[in-house]
Amino acid sequence: MLQVKKRDSWGSRLGIIMSVAGSAVGLGNFLRFPAKVASNGGGAFMIPYFVSLFLLGLPLMWIEWTLGRFGGGFEHSTAPGIFHSIWRKNRFIKYFGVIGIFGPLIIFIYYIYIESWTLGYSIFSLLGKYRNLTDQATMQSFLKGFQGLEKNQFFESLGWAYTFFVITFVLNIVIISYGIKGGIERICKLAMPLLFVCALVLLIRVITLGTPDPTKPSWNIFNGFGFLWNPDFSALRSAKVWLEAAGQIFFTLSVGIGVILTYASYLSKGDDVVLSGLTAASTNELAEVILGGSIIIPAAFVFFGPQEIQSIARSGVFNLGFVTMPLVLNKLPLAQIFGFIWFFLLFLAGITSSVSLCQPAVAFLEDEFNLSRKRAVLLFGLISFVLCQPTIFFLKNGLVDELDFWGGTFCLVLFATVETILFAWILGMENAWSEIHRGADLVIPRTYKFVIKYITPLFLFFILGMWFWQEWLPVIMMKGVSVQNRIFVLATRWGLLSIFSILALLVKIAWRRKKLNS
Ligand code: PFF
Repeated sequence: MLQVKKRDSWGSRLGIIMSVAGSAVGLGNFLRFPAKVASNGGGAFMIPYFVSLFLLGLPLMWIEWTLGRFGGGFEHSTAPGIFHSIWRKNRFIKYFGVIGIFGPLIIFIYYIYIESWTLGYSIFSLLGKYRNLTDQATMQSFLKGFQGLEKNQFFESLGWAYTFFVITFVLNIVIISYGIKGGIERICKLAMPLLFVCALVLLIRVITLGTPDPTKPSWNIFNGFGFLWNPDFSALRSAKVWLEAAGQIFFTLSVGIGVILTYASYLSKGDDVVLSGLTAASTNELAEVILGGSIIIPAAFVFFGPQEIQSIARSGVFNLGFVTMPLVLNKLPLAQIFGFIWFFLLFLAGITSSVSLCQPAVAFLEDEFNLSRKRAVLLFGLISFVLCQPTIFFLKNGLVDELDFWGGTFCLVLFATVETILFAWILGMENAWSEIHRGADLVIPRTYKFVIKYITPLFLFFILGMWFWQEWLPVIMMKGVSVQNRIFVLATRWGLLSIFSILALLVKIAWRRKKLNS
């Protein structure tokens, strides 16, 4: 006899809002965003950023909440099942849904490793391990030693980084094993307020920095904020700036990848999605633009000046967070405490995001293969642990960039396009509009009906088209990849293709089994 499993659910409305906001507020807010702003000419970046927020980010937030809740009504928590419930006549649509499991898994593989560095650094800071380092070169060497990229006076091997990785990994798996209400919701309700307190403490410290070097009066905190906010309109002509801004919006809001779809599937049919989605998105933007943008950039500006932050940011997203920021904090009294607060803030932001990345794969195994949560989590844990290894051991060979590109950029835009078409054109805008507003506490302005139907998909097609036009060939030909890294990048691509194919095969098997059982 087929056993009917009780579906997991959220404990409270605040719980799901905190959890979606927890997924959204992450390393992307405090590391990726400042690096993007600084390397794209400061304030100019904010115009395409806000345009993308209103034309892509918000619509997709609402689309995912609505589609997720819709799919949950059919006992599906992941994209293959949800897409199939919307377009039953199309046999292939469920395979597009595979991206909604594949993407989060790929992001998880590298995201969790970076998250584990923040745990390590928070402890190093408390212990004063890098307290005496005062210049870029030694701090950089500290980071490289930790990552196992060079032997130096601080680290002889990858041992510490690996230990922190294992701790972080196990923590994530334990949280997930407690389920939606008992695990994810509980940790997010705890971590989110704490995260905001840490960020506020740092924000106040940064605002009160004044002009630390009197010989350079223009390197003051006002100009630091000006660097972020003064728009340079000429940057708007660059297609790259637009693509990067749109990519950042997807990444930061966790939309276009299937995670929010999965979270929303545990809602009940009459639960509000309009106000909840808006609240989660606003919380993320507050954390990103106000907190994320106001800590690292102005602080780096007053100590290093406008020229140098641009070049630091361009030299890699980690340098700003793991090299510049500890250096800045080392110049202040109570450096060890502030350093701890900075890295612990990153860790809290990271963990509430990484658990969300696990949930689609776990939910897929639970729903479509009827596995118990324990078994699903165990299987996910074993497989993802193995998949994390290449990122750790071949960090210097460009694996993170490769995974971030396919999992954290390309898949997002592709998946968002499929979701928008399904929502606005297959479900139909009239049905979609009433589905969004079922149980809603707020009415979305009617202009969004037009935006979601025409502007959002056109914008997405434009981005995809531009990408194919400008980047397809260079990416495929691995232009810009050093000769010694090519083999690693190629192996990563084959690996990704294999993972995708296996997931697609699992979808096929699941559907065949269901057909036989019905
Ligand atoms: N939004 C997270 C961040 O800003 O760090 C990253 C992320 C989490 C992206 C979950 C995608 C996702 F599904």
